[in-house]
Amino acid sequence: MAPIDSTALIARAEAISKEFEYGADDVRKGVKEFLRLMDVGLQNDGEAMTMIPTYVTSVPNGTEKGVYLAVDLGGTNFRVCSVYLTGDSKFTLTQSKAAIPKLMMTSDSHTLFSFLAQQVKEFVDEHHGDHFAETADHHLQLGFTFSFPVDQRAVNKGYLIRWTKGFDIADAIGKDVCELLQKEIDALGIPVTVAALVNDTVGTLMARSYTSPGKTGTLLGAIFGTGTNGAYVEKLSKISKMTKPDSGVGEYDKSTGEMVVNTEWGSFDNAMQVLPDTLYDRQLDKNSVNPGIQMFEKRISGMFLGEILRNAILGLQKDVGLFSAATIEETAALNTPWSVDTSVLSYIEADDSEDLATAKSVLEEQLGVSAAHVSTEEARAVKILVHAIGKRSARLSAVPVAAILIATGKVKPSASLDDAAETKEELDVIDIGVDGSVVEFYPGFEKYLREALREVPEIGSDNEKRVRMGVAKDGSGVGAALIALVAAKMAGIPAAFAADEL
Ligand code: GLC
Repeated sequence: MAPIDSTALIARAEAISKEFEYGADDVRKGVKEFLRLMDVGLQNDGEAMTMIPTYVTSVPNGTEKGVYLAVDLGGTNFRVCSVYLTGDSKFTLTQSKAAIPKLMMTSDSHTLFSFLAQQVKEFVDEHHGDHFAETADHHLQLGFTFSFPVDQRAVNKGYLIRWTKGFDIADAIGKDVCELLQKEIDALGIPVTVAALVNDTVGTLMARSYTSPGKTGTLLGAIFGTGTNGAYVEKLSKISKMTKPDSGVGEYDKSTGEMVVNTEWGSFDNAMQVLPDTLYDRQLDKNSVNPGIQMFEKRISGMFLGEILRNAILGLQKDVGLFSAATIEETAALNTPWSVDTSVLSYIEADDSEDLATAKSVLEEQLGVSAAHVSTEEARAVKILVHAIGKRSARLSAVPVAAILIATGKVKPSASLDDAAETKEELDVIDIGVDGSVVEFYPGFEKYLREALREVPEIGSDNEKRVRMGVAKDGSGVGAALIALVAAKMAGIPAAFAADEL
């Protein structure tokens, strides 16, 4: 076989990478559309970018105390944990983790929820057996992190709107997921009450607020992991759909004048008015379980970046004979839809060596392309694609962040920032809690996100500097525990057991 023409290969890889460019003008257009769709979602029910009122009306300040259970369903794993909040912005956490069998993601609701309840039982037996032997009448309060769009009607009630991230269980749509879980927990006879329903973004926001209390509290919790989404603190007066007649809203505390809103920004611009689109994105969407839905998420998050890369590599293979000297089995990951993990992109992006040795071994181990027959130029071509896909993801992620900063009035005009600098007045930081494998592990993700933030005129570099972004470790567990605490307090239920009993 003729050796591959390296110049043509790199030129083609660069041409493909150009298709992934998301420039300053695109960011600005994106922000404008995001602001528009935020308003649409706050005013009306049933919009694609759903803007879900969460019934959480304040964020913690770090003094909360007690022991709560939390479970987390929303990605590849199901986690059960107990969280001991010590009231000084700190916590300890014990957890167990089980991979969710792929088949279960598309089974029926009894199969899935009885599996979850079983995991809760095993955890409680192992870690809280003694306690319950003594006080069997006292129920542990549980926060249920369920990271899919639900129509929330109370802090512990929410009807599933649609599945995302590869889950597809038809009979659960329209059901109250707290009730589904409680039913299976009761069937196993364990003393646990599902006290709160929490999206992972809300959990992240709460956890970040608990662990880093500042003058102003945390504004936004954002996930860039298997999926992407964000929740932020909004004025009640702007959530006008809650005051429409017959809106069916439940009771909530109005005293703070605020409520956390789960945006479900994964479905931003499903109409494809402003989002970038390449052949490789279209191939992915067509082969997904939900074509036309979660179009923003499909360009950003971990469940999808590997598949975009796989499609782009196959494109290079077809166009210029990439890997023509290598042996690639029919069953190799490269030939199998949805089998390229996003960590592949992180490893290849991080490889700055001359000979791209890591990239080559990742190609062999994760994609099934025999490294012995991969040239450095071929690995370089793949790295060009990786970089383009990863950078676009990070720059797109700046769009909702910028829009939320603007919509909540957090950004200040540059001139007033200059005055403040002159008078040495200390400017408030804008605190953002983040979580997820993409923001944590993709090299340069935050840097590219910030670059794009600065390109938005209302933000600029002065406001961008005020943004403090930090990973809220174990955010969904701690956040769910915090919301279970608030819910239990409201219901007059004391903390399951006092800190000094531990
Ligand atoms: C998907 C879900 C959303 C969740 C996000 C991150 O977008 O719809 O609820 O927050 O993934 O896990």
